[in-house]
Amino acid sequence: MKIAVVGCGYVFDIYMRTLRAHPELTIIGVFDINSERSRRVGNFYKLRIYGSYEAMLADSEVDAVINLTSIQAHFAVTKQALEAGKHVYSEKPLTKSLNDSAQLFDIAREHCVRLYAAPCNIYSDMIRTIYEAVGSGAIGKPRLIYAELDDNPIHLLDFDRVISPTGAPWPLEEELREGCTYEHLGYHLVWICGLLGPAVAVTAYSSELVESKVSTLPPYLGTPDYSVACLHFRNGESARITCSFVAPRDHRLRVIGDKGELAGDSYRHYRSPVYLEQYTKMSLNARKFQTLRAHPMLGRLFGVGGKRLPLVHNWKSHAVLKDQAQSATFKQRLLEWVRRREIYAQDKFIGIAEMAREIREDKPQFLSPDFLLHVNELTLIVQAAGPGGIATKPTTTFAPLGDIPGTLTSPAGHDASCWVHLALC
Ligand SMILES: NC(=O)c1ccc[n+]([C@@H]2O[C@H](COP(=O)([O-])OP(=O)(O)OC[C@H]3O[C@@H](n4cnc5c(N)ncnc54)[C@H](O)[C@@H]3O)[C@@H](O)[C@H]2O)c1
Repeated sequence: MKIAVVGCGYVFDIYMRTLRAHPELTIIGVFDINSERSRRVGNFYKLRIYGSYEAMLADSEVDAVINLTSIQAHFAVTKQALEAGKHVYSEKPLTKSLNDSAQLFDIAREHCVRLYAAPCNIYSDMIRTIYEAVGSGAIGKPRLIYAELDDNPIHLLDFDRVISPTGAPWPLEEELREGCTYEHLGYHLVWICGLLGPAVAVTAYSSELVESKVSTLPPYLGTPDYSVACLHFRNGESARITCSFVAPRDHRLRVIGDKGELAGDSYRHYRSPVYLEQYTKMSLNARKFQTLRAHPMLGRLFGVGGKRLPLVHNWKSHAVLKDQAQSATFKQRLLEWVRRREIYAQDKFIGIAEMAREIREDKPQFLSPDFLLHVNELTLIVQAAGPGGIATKPTTTFAPLGDIPGTLTSPAGHDASCWVHLALC
């Protein structure tokens, strides 16, 4: 599939990290309203630089557009591409209005093209492993999900000094203005709704807890830096998702069932370990002991936290092991290795690879338009909940997703082929 990218900011370089794992995708060219950014990115990655968005959309070689613009621009940029007859993959949230999002899917249908949206972490090995363990009955019937997305008090961390390999500053002000819910809630919604189906009721609260985060912005932005959503599902299950830019980083997720629980460390690490604890009286009682809580290794001797599961792999699992900057210095490669192992390892192109495969094979969208609209609606409800809170029923719903595509049936075999693949690259 031949692709053009609109929006050449910070996240562009994160996408490019794993492109080499997707030889079926060709990035032809780029455009940004900031022509300096188009030029920097185009020259760095040797891509065509379009002089205008219209010129990009008029390029008949382009099959699909990836929309990496600021959230405020998502609707207009996606709309224009769909109307030009291009498939679109948009960063999240799809738009800031459910009507706008629904309109985009209508336009896509009218023009016989497809609209997809991030996040794509449902395709990660961690989530596949959780789905498989739930499907095999390892924890009995799932009843409750706890999902955290505290992402640090970012205003204390000099994020304004962080720059991408092509020189884009991390957009601190933009992230604060849009808030943690728009930026992050979707990462948990996709896998939770994929697992449990559409939410039939939502109770949510959101608030702006910290004033004057940066001197260049007004003291209060009117954007929540904290939100909690409780989702109720058709079969009685419940999920509680917390997002913040206030509490220290905590991305843990837990699926709790009748017989045990599954735990993962971070949505941001596609190979994050998954632990399965099948409850025993000993493991449940051991939690009462403060020494065992304070020393998790000791707790494990009593079954608390359970055992690490082998990860279930997908056809593109190797992507996060690859490093775009092959010719970098030893020091840079070492830092990249540490980052991939310890901090985050995401393949932002996996959603686009799945999109390309579905279009090529004329298959329906796994992350269907109804599913994407539902995730969008939940995000908007939680963002707007406010300190008074809200209890409501979403207006959107979707048919069950079924199995996540791309799973490899033989993890061991995949690892071997993955390493051969790496050695050849
Ligand atoms: N920063 C991250 O770590 C991160 C991670 C995942 C997803 N995202 C998402 O990716 C998107 C972009 O984020 P970012 O961090 O790269 O932001 P950014 O501000 O660094 O980059 C956005 C770019 O879009 C360009 N742009 C804005 N309006 C445009 C328009 N109408 N036409 C063409 N270009 C336009 C801007 O000039 C800018 O270069 C957002 O939706 C964000 O939620 C960001």
